[in-house]
Amino acid sequence: MEKAKAVIVTQDLTKRFNDFTAVDHINLEVMQGEIFGFLGPNGAGKTTAIRMLTTLSEPSEGTAKVGGYDIRSQSDEVRKRIGLVAEKLILYPRLTAVENLMFFGQLYGLSGSYLRQRINDLLRMVRLEAFKNMSVSGYSSGMRQRVNIMRGLLHDPDILFLDEPTALLDPQSIQFVHDLVRELNEDGKTIIITTHIMEEADQLSHRIGIIDHGKMIAVDTPAGLKSKNGSQSLLEVFLKLTGKELRDSASKKVPMGMMRRPV
Ligand SMILES: Nc1ncnc2c1ncn2[C@@H]1O[C@H](COP(=O)(O)OP(=O)(O)O)[C@@H](O)[C@H]1O
Ligand SMILES: [Mg+2]
Repeated sequence: MEKAKAVIVTQDLTKRFNDFTAVDHINLEVMQGEIFGFLGPNGAGKTTAIRMLTTLSEPSEGTAKVGGYDIRSQSDEVRKRIGLVAEKLILYPRLTAVENLMFFGQLYGLSGSYLRQRINDLLRMVRLEAFKNMSVSGYSSGMRQRVNIMRGLLHDPDILFLDEPTALLDPQSIQFVHDLVRELNEDGKTIIITTHIMEEADQLSHRIGIIDHGKMIAVDTPAGLKSKNGSQSLLEVFLKLTGKELRDSASKKVPMGMMRRPV
């Protein structure tokens, strides 16, 4: 059998914000055709790592190859091969699904009948054909997330990054996203997905990487992680490796002036 090819290879990938290290010397390989679950507590560094791998943010140190191209020196080549479904939805609420997608498609250099056909195919894929001419402000969160996923797929990327795609969705929408991820993967796409739902990661991922405080602390198959840690569930593994302390890290970013003083 042909040896699996790595489509993401990071070398000491690091991001600092002033004196805080959000992503700390990550060395990771994601193989072609994998669904890679990228897990970690809030503030662990998942989104920051994804932003670097998708060329939205420059590493402070180290680099990575994505689809065979360097994220620093060949970012245009990287962008052609990756799709991103970002944590925060980025759609124009007053525009219809089709208008939003026409706009984003043009940003990718797509146009004309090719773009229209692509949008129609994707609308069918995410079952939004009936709503395509409604402004997205009238959409439910599940419908908006499906448009957001379409947006990430417009230019038919080989590698798709999904940052918490199922957060805040209802069970039907979650199941739909799972089925879609599997379908896209069967079509040959490599998928990197972050989530806080351990069951989701366990069922979907071929391999899982757990990041905490910016460091990759474990990478293995779901079964491997469980057996290595003598745990029945991925949640048990996750809590064993990352601890049970609450991560209320947002508090440190609140300016002191906004803190309530004791009365
Ligand atoms: N632009 C930024 N400036 C300063 N700190 C940031 C910035 N972006 C992220 N951080 C910090 O980096 C850490 C990792 O954040 P993030 O990658 O969003 O975590 P995750 O996606 O795993 O929840 C957090 O402590 C966050 O507050
Ligand atoms: Mg995040």
